[in-house]
Amino acid sequence: MHRHYATVSSTSKSNAEPQRIAILGGGITGLASAYFLSKDLPKAKITLFEASPRLGGWLHSRSVDIGSGSVIFEQGPRNLRPTMPNGLITLNLVRDLGLEDRILMTSKNSVAAQNRFIYYPDHLVRMPGPGSSLLQNISNVLSEPIFKGTISAALSEVTKARRPGDLQDESIGSFLTRRFGSALADNVVSAVFHGIYAGDIYKLSARAIMPSLWAIEWRNNSIMKGLLEQAFGGMQPIATADLNLIKTLQSQPIMSDKLEVVKKSSVFTFKGGIGELADRLEAKLDESDNVLVMENTHVGQIKLGSNAVGEKIQMNAKEVSNREITNYEFDHVVSTIPGDKLASIAPTINLSSLSRTSAVTVMVVNLFFSSPDILPVHGFGYLLPRSVPFEQNPERALGVVFDSDASIGQDDVPGTKVTVMLGGHWWDDFDAYPDEDEGASMAKALLNRHLGINEEPRAIRVSLQRNCIPQYGVGHEARMEDASLRLESFKGRLRVAGNSYTGVGLNDCIRAARDVVKDLVNGTGTTGLESFVGGKKWSWFKREELKI
Ligand SMILES: Cc1cc2nc3c(=O)[nH]c(=O)nc-3n(C[C@H](O)[C@H](O)[C@H](O)COP(=O)(O)OP(=O)(O)OC[C@H]3O[C@@H](n4cnc5c(N)ncnc54)[C@H](O)[C@@H]3O)c2cc1C
Ligand SMILES: *[C@@H]1O[C@H](CO)[C@@H](O)[C@H](O)[C@H]1NC(C)=O
Ligand SMILES: *[C@@H]1O[C@H](CO)[C@@H](O)[C@H](O)[C@H]1NC(C)=O
Ligand SMILES: *[C@@H]1O[C@H](CO)[C@@H](O)[C@H](O)[C@H]1NC(C)=O
Ligand SMILES: *[C@@H]1O[C@H](CO)[C@@H](O)[C@H](O)[C@H]1NC(C)=O
Repeated sequence: MHRHYATVSSTSKSNAEPQRIAILGGGITGLASAYFLSKDLPKAKITLFEASPRLGGWLHSRSVDIGSGSVIFEQGPRNLRPTMPNGLITLNLVRDLGLEDRILMTSKNSVAAQNRFIYYPDHLVRMPGPGSSLLQNISNVLSEPIFKGTISAALSEVTKARRPGDLQDESIGSFLTRRFGSALADNVVSAVFHGIYAGDIYKLSARAIMPSLWAIEWRNNSIMKGLLEQAFGGMQPIATADLNLIKTLQSQPIMSDKLEVVKKSSVFTFKGGIGELADRLEAKLDESDNVLVMENTHVGQIKLGSNAVGEKIQMNAKEVSNREITNYEFDHVVSTIPGDKLASIAPTINLSSLSRTSAVTVMVVNLFFSSPDILPVHGFGYLLPRSVPFEQNPERALGVVFDSDASIGQDDVPGTKVTVMLGGHWWDDFDAYPDEDEGASMAKALLNRHLGINEEPRAIRVSLQRNCIPQYGVGHEARMEDASLRLESFKGRLRVAGNSYTGVGLNDCIRAARDVVKDLVNGTGTTGLESFVGGKKWSWFKREELKI
């Protein structure tokens, strides 16, 4: 406990290694951070603190026995997208973890990749996509109410007034309405954001979440002009940090033949569910002799202090089953717990800008039906826009995933597996949420009304995921800049990563873990949020120049 460790200055490029490092949180970001650190700094002593009894955070794949076999129910995330550049970091991790053979891939020409639906106003509408013929595209746009007015909205967009120079940010809903009118935002885009954020497009930040459209509008005073130019090989924007990362990744050819195929897929998961990623990381950490994992241990306070040797992070934590509080000292801490929780345990600095990121609650209902062919259509599933009339969606569902189409071959029992997601921002001001029985009835009622399913499910699991998806509201980037400046008072010893800051997808979390570890090891960044300071940097490039 009281061994003597040399201090290091994280801002100098010294070769001395940090000795004692804590990771707060054992979700995917914390697990990946601990894994990368244990490899990059084999001599450091790394301790991971997780308040709950299990690792993985939101990753939770449950194997449910249905008598004739078992099926996998995803209660949290269900798939990964191999998009550049963050998806490539995930693929590298998958390879390093030896998980290649466990991959379950959905190719781009699968039914799931080609058929994605939006329910509007009272039926499923297939969205135009890579598999659509020109005729389908045209007839869709002309006949479906959801596309009413899109052509004239797109044409008149080029004539809209330029963005006021002092407008620092606005909601996605307001941004798109300003350019295209509200129909596109309400009928199509709100559905897409129900799928990713379970969020309200009139609260989510356009600047943080649609950065390239935001940049294109500014450059050309028109989104359509900019996109058209891109379509004909013109310049497109990319975050400078992403551009640098892509160049680095390209200079190190690392993919196997199998991963080259996965790289071109639509989405992928693992045979035992997405949770295999967390399980394998946990196993690797158990094997490594420089990582100590402490589950059931809640971190209660963190501050910068000093001892005889120099500056340290002083921290306390409490075992959940035990009243005793233990004090710790670390050279470095990487916090991957939600930003508002970090703000509440760091009393010496004002992190109110992190407390202001709220999170939505989602009810996930997994259902398995014995009949293999009860779905009226096949595909990835469907999303519900905010503009669906209330009587079509009194349950306030966000979307339905057709799991047995989206991850073919995950279960060896024949049948149909679907997941209904309820709530999200619709439930923001609820004091109490539906209980499991109510959730099950709501999901069944919805499937009956929308898809005509009246068969009793063979298995059903309802999980209420409280505050599970952080919402990057208007002003997110400015708040992250403020937080970064305030975190600097920890002098490079406290850094953050995770879904509160730089993206909510699993790929974003893994990328954040990689970046924060690289910065810690190389003494480059100091807070994990430095990319926000002075505004995000953008570069313009031609797609063919980068070969992505
Ligand atoms: C229903 C749902 C579906 C999703 N679907 C997808 C998808 O299909 N694809 C995709 O890419 N992403 C998806 N996501 C997003 C993705 O799952 C999350 O963004 C990601 O898992 C977040 O990981 P994290 O490690 O940053 O945070 P978390 O998973 O929240 O981990 C933080 C950990 O910190 C612990 N902790 C908190 N406070 C303390 C404390 N004081 N002391 C110690 N430990 C503490 C918590 O217990 C938790 O385990 C989905 C999310 C949800 C909720
Ligand atoms: C139909 O539209 C989709 C998406 O907009 C596009 O990818 C596809 O190529 C189009 N089909 C044809 C034949 O133009
Ligand atoms: C968009 O803006 C760039 C930079 O000002 C300019 O070079 C380009 O020609 C513009 N494109 C269109 C279609 O206006
Ligand atoms: C904390 O910071 C926020 C914004 O960064 C500021 O508005 C607030 O006044 C500060 N609170 C205190 C107590 O200083
Ligand atoms: C640190 O920087 C060096 C030189 O720039 C680089 O080779 C190395 O990969 C970096 N370390 C990590 C962990 O990225």
